[in-house]
Amino acid sequence: MELPFAESYKIKMIEPLKRSTREEREQWIKEANYNLFKLKSDQVFIDLLTDSGTGAMSDRQWSAIMTGDESYAGARSFHELKDMVKKLLGFEYFLPTHQGRAAENVLFSVLVKEGDVVPGNSHFDTTKGHIEFRKATAIDCTIDAAFDTTFEHPFKGNIDIEKLEKVYKTYPKEKIPCCIVTVTCNSSGGQPVSLQNIKEVYELSKKYGIPVMFDSARFAENAYFIKLREEGYKDWTIKEIVAEMYKYTDYATMSSKKDGLVNMGGFIGFKDEATYRKACTFSIMFEGYVTYGGMAGRDMAALAVGLDESTEFEYLETRIKQVEYLGEKLRSYNVPIQYPIGGHAIFVDANLILPNVPREEFRAQTLGVELYNEGGIRGVEIGAILADRDPVTRENRYPKLELLRLAIPRRVYTNNHMDVIAAALKNVYDRKDNIKKGLKITWEAPIMRHFTVELDRV
Ligand code: F0G
Repeated sequence: MELPFAESYKIKMIEPLKRSTREEREQWIKEANYNLFKLKSDQVFIDLLTDSGTGAMSDRQWSAIMTGDESYAGARSFHELKDMVKKLLGFEYFLPTHQGRAAENVLFSVLVKEGDVVPGNSHFDTTKGHIEFRKATAIDCTIDAAFDTTFEHPFKGNIDIEKLEKVYKTYPKEKIPCCIVTVTCNSSGGQPVSLQNIKEVYELSKKYGIPVMFDSARFAENAYFIKLREEGYKDWTIKEIVAEMYKYTDYATMSSKKDGLVNMGGFIGFKDEATYRKACTFSIMFEGYVTYGGMAGRDMAALAVGLDESTEFEYLETRIKQVEYLGEKLRSYNVPIQYPIGGHAIFVDANLILPNVPREEFRAQTLGVELYNEGGIRGVEIGAILADRDPVTRENRYPKLELLRLAIPRRVYTNNHMDVIAAALKNVYDRKDNIKKGLKITWEAPIMRHFTVELDRV
């Protein structure tokens, strides 16, 4: 008999979870204005709000914490991290930041100005926020296949080269500070970008004199998919694939809270010194001196180890197989989710589950509230609430997809938890025809409203 798959680690420390009753949850979600962000974590049994900063560190990482050097300038931990980034990604110049959006803030302070356009593959919301905040426009050039959740395409994060070239032909190069490639593409479903696409984007961008930037939050998961799905890479190590990917970019921002395997942190990588030098000023203003940028020395030390661990195949296989396990379970229950199953999360297709709820009543958010009431499971809406209003017309933007994202924290839950999630979602799915009413907004912030929005039942 072939031996089944098992995790590549064992558990050394645990944290108890709290269970609750449906009555309690219905009361709590009402008090939270039907916004899952506003729940207290003790009111949640299985927390799939995000895979960001929610992972478990290894014994090696905890050991590194103890070796952290807290010197204000020139800390040893800074150099450990800088050396690891150079070794894995090849960046000569490097700035730590306190998280991913801080890296965007510092880099875009140099690159992006009013009236610019920034093409990319479904920019993440903070990335888009930082672009729009500077009165520039993000242009989505993701391939069309990404917007059909049932269509199996190995690299749904890919950029459509024709769409990109159209942007390059329409606007002068002075108005295009960079093209952003998000690896993996969170907003279109944790979907990877192929190395072939990465190379094509880079070549086209060079032809038009435009720099490329990688939004690198889940770069290692992207490399895993290249190894498994793209021809020619099956015998490459993850570290070799990562090194190859990063040959084709000029800058990278990273939220280290994902594939960095730490709870807080981020950084920027630069190939050219001139941009790095300009960014140093903004780093000092917004983040901190250039050798800590908002991170404690111990956190930089743990991140250096985390980057080394997350670019190991055994770790990635364990991680991504768990996401796949949940996805396959949902497939067997006929619950519509995005295919192929992505790297960090399952994206449940709320348009297909709750077509009876009017689009204006936020289908994915409604599904999220139902799942919470059912099993104390917290996901996050990736739909019209997240899409915000158009900055010019102030009309609601309705994206093609209304998704409920179930993000799986790294090295945290077991497959028994996955079974509970799947069963709870199946129960909601079985009574979907009785769900006809959604939610309405009673209060919202002018930008990035989904974090603080207040809703009520229609
Ligand atoms: N880029 C991507 C692709 C992301 O997914 C995130 C964060 C960021 C940038 C910003 O990084 O949070 O460290 O400031 N994504 C989290 C999520 C919040 O839940 O997907 P950050």
